[in-house]
Amino acid sequence: MTEPFTIAVDGPAAAGKGTISKAVAEHFGFAHLDTGLLYRAVGAKYLLGMDPAAAARALTAGDIEGSNLRGPEVAQAASKVAVVSEVRAALLDFQRSFARRAGGAVLDGRDIGTVICPQAEAKLFITARAEVRAQRRFSELVASGSMTSPEQVLADVRERDARDQNRAESPLKPAPDAMVIDTSDMSIKEAIHAAIAAVRSRR
Ligand code: CDP
Ligand code: CDP
Repeated sequence: MTEPFTIAVDGPAAAGKGTISKAVAEHFGFAHLDTGLLYRAVGAKYLLGMDPAAAARALTAGDIEGSNLRGPEVAQAASKVAVVSEVRAALLDFQRSFARRAGGAVLDGRDIGTVICPQAEAKLFITARAEVRAQRRFSELVASGSMTSPEQVLADVRERDARDQNRAESPLKPAPDAMVIDTSDMSIKEAIHAAIAAVRSRR
């Protein structure tokens, strides 16, 4: 059984965290957890009228499942419930246990390198200009049949970034020891290569 090895990946919306984390996990044979999905699952229950802290506790107890979590309404709801201290506390142990599993783990989110896994062996902060990120998310939404405009997607991304960066608890920011990768002018393939090289430098 190999020792735990945690790769913490943080960054703003649509920077490429998820795609890069999945590829990095496959490359090293590690497990991958998209922690944004936890907040999205809680956000989706909040939209249905459930108390967010109760939803977070039910989620880690395995009592609720998430589906259809990818849309912009759920993303906004996720960032609203993510400011609630009890929600973050309820999701903490699950993420920490996942991070220290044998065989290695990649977690992506907003506070992995700063709060969830400050001792992570490798930390990446994936970012890109807001306009570039909004264009990427817009292309995804159009491909999935959604009717929206580039302006609306940019406004949504900016609103969510501001809420994530300015909240009191676990705000989005690079850990002091994170390796920052700006993917604005990279293809997804180049970004994945840069991330793998950065992790190798810490192994
Ligand atoms: O997880 P996060 O919201 O940070 O981003 P993602 O879902 O991994 O990436 C958003 C979209 O941008 C995906 O369709 C990626 O393929 C695309 N992307 C890209 O085209 N070029 C990059 N350098 C990074 C991401
Ligand atoms: O894929 P994208 O970057 O658009 O969003 P996400 O990673 O699915 O996260 C949705 C929201 O959950 C974020 O805007 C944050 O408010 C919150 N979140 C968080 O607070 N902490 C995390 N570790 C992950 C997500």
